[in-house]
Amino acid sequence: MAEELIIPVGTDRKEIYDALLPQINSLIETESDLTANLANISAALKEAFGFFWVGFYLAKEGQLVLGPFQGPIACTRIPFHKGVCGASYSQQKTIIVPDVDQFPGHIACASASKSEIVLPVFHRNGTVAMVLDVDSDQLNDFSETDAEGLQSILTLLERKL
Ligand code: SME
Repeated sequence: MAEELIIPVGTDRKEIYDALLPQINSLIETESDLTANLANISAALKEAFGFFWVGFYLAKEGQLVLGPFQGPIACTRIPFHKGVCGASYSQQKTIIVPDVDQFPGHIACASASKSEIVLPVFHRNGTVAMVLDVDSDQLNDFSETDAEGLQSILTLLERKL
């Protein structure tokens, strides 16, 4: 595909996720390199929604290690049980945090981050390969719409793991 996203304007997030899904599929379906695909997924989400921070933490060397991302510099290593990312990794589920100050153990990489959503990405054998972390500078910015929209993008990625 052309290296340009087509994002509907003046629509709600569900419509943007629906428009984004086939475009992300086109971007990654013929590319076998994981880093390239994680980089483009991060960039597409940042461009489509203007989120404060979007990126991946990969499970390796017994911890979560920063992977491709878009946004300000971030913590490079997170223990498996620390923060929202560690909670999503160890509980193997999507976690929405409406107010990061209310989440025990939240890791503040940037003080501007107010709410976040973290989703696990699974290997075929059921273990967690990585997590996708999306941060907003607005309180309570994520809902089930984001959980579903982001999950459908990650399902495309999981097919390639
Ligand atoms: N806030 C995350 C850490 C990663 S940064 O926000 C990019 C957490 O608590 O796991």
